[in-house]
Amino acid sequence: MKHFLFALTVLIFLSLACTNSSEEKKIYSVYGIGPYQKISLSQINDSIMQTGKKLFDKNCSSCHTMEYKNSGPDLSNILERRTPERIMNYMMNLDEMKLKDSISVNLDKKYNSNCKIIIKNENEAFSILEYFRIYQIWLHEFNIK
Ligand code: HEC
Repeated sequence: MKHFLFALTVLIFLSLACTNSSEEKKIYSVYGIGPYQKISLSQINDSIMQTGKKLFDKNCSSCHTMEYKNSGPDLSNILERRTPERIMNYMMNLDEMKLKDSISVNLDKKYNSNCKIIIKNENEAFSILEYFRIYQIWLHEFNIK
């Protein structure tokens, strides 16, 4: 009886641990991993967006184009497949995302190159997010794709 109770306790504990981690994974895939879990976005600010465009051209465009696939994935419609929180976490917490977040792990396997985020602070990351947002609007308005 003692053994049975012990085994039962272990079983319950294990099944609880499993549910937790699959719940966690679901949250990871939507918001990614990192401090950004709920961002409220207001109207796009033109000068912040221009800063983001400059940073993107300088630090990201060698691998990511906004028009076709390069050594990194195309990011022109990134906001159709990823939440803003996820993108902020990706830019600000890349190492942990690439270790623990299943989408990022699989993406990493798919590409020969590695994402290299050169961003000094949260404001710079946010300005790139704003650039992604305006690009999304341009895509739909001008039917670039
Ligand atoms: C040296 C090439 C390189 C540079 C520079 C680079 N990236 Fe990446 N990026 C990649 C690759 C390759 C991937 C796919 C994952 C991997 O293998 O690392 C990726 C993935 C991403 C993703 C995830 C896309 C998705 O579908 O979830 C985002 C967002 C991203 N990069 C943003 C940026 C930003 C913003 C910059 C500039 C600050 C940047 N990257 C600079 C190569 C690069």
